[in-house]
Amino acid sequence: KNIKLIEVPSEIGAGTRGASLGIEAIKIAALDFMSNFFIHFPSEKIPTENKLLYEAIESPYAKRIKGIVSMYDKVSKAVSDSIKNNFFPVILSGDHSIAGATIAGIKMAKPKSKLGVIWIDAHADLHTPFTTPSGNLHGMSVATAINEDNSESAVHEPDAETVKQWNYLKTIGKIAPKVLPEDVVYISLRDYEKEEKNLIDKYGMKVITTKEVRSKGPENIVRAVTRYFSDCSDIYISLDVDSLDSSISKGTGTPVSNGLKEREAEDLISKFMQNRKVCCFEITEVNPTLDKENLMAEIAFNILQRSVNVLLMS
Ligand code: ARG
Ligand code: MN
Ligand code: MN
Ligand code: MN
Repeated sequence: KNIKLIEVPSEIGAGTRGASLGIEAIKIAALDFMSNFFIHFPSEKIPTENKLLYEAIESPYAKRIKGIVSMYDKVSKAVSDSIKNNFFPVILSGDHSIAGATIAGIKMAKPKSKLGVIWIDAHADLHTPFTTPSGNLHGMSVATAINEDNSESAVHEPDAETVKQWNYLKTIGKIAPKVLPEDVVYISLRDYEKEEKNLIDKYGMKVITTKEVRSKGPENIVRAVTRYFSDCSDIYISLDVDSLDSSISKGTGTPVSNGLKEREAEDLISKFMQNRKVCCFEITEVNPTLDKENLMAEIAFNILQRSVNVLLMS
């Protein structure tokens, strides 16, 4: 497979500053491991809208959504172009809002695909401007992909301009939904709000807990998910590093206890990579400003390197 790295040093979707430095931190981890990984692959860096951090927030229920719209445009196009040119895009992003754009890009390149999404994350990222507890767009990326407002659980009334931009995110590329809720599998989900839980229950979305990963073992989990996705044509894997346990994930904006061990995440992802349906992989939410000794970036790099090695061999 021809790998292409797409670097998106975004952070306007996150509530804590510093995630835009995550990609550089991962590159420094590679250097500290004396790896020349990053000189092997073509890469493209997408310009971000981080300057918006200096401006007043216009939409409290969808912070800096104007910038996110622009990021969705740029990232979806880059991902789509790379797939059309027969690359396997590996996205390194600052915050997880970008994954909504990545999914859009996959669907723009493969409009007829039935896309399965493996969302390895402590969080469901299923909020909308109508339900969000924080206004942060990185908590809404899955909702944009499944074209969801969750009006049944609405608690806010966002202004018309915000709703217009939100509708744009959900329908970008004029394909909506891009993924069916039943084709999303959460791994290590453990921190969500009741509005998100309502959707998970309503659609019967699949959730695999940390405990299940531990009791059944990564190999069996991968086998079960592969079977679950037997009617899907393509698979995208999104790794939010806060899926890892908070004892080793200080270097991310929203760490949560009872998460995966480094080895578990690595085994899961590298085994998933053997599946030919997997067409795109993303690592996100490394924030080195919160870390000690760059540990989070080192873990992210180890997972990245091992996964890409499996891809190159298969
Ligand atoms: N559910 C919370 C929120 O909407 C946290 C989301 C965290 N998301 C993430 N990608 N780290 O604010
Ligand atoms: Mn998360
Ligand atoms: Mn199905
Ligand atoms: Mn996330």
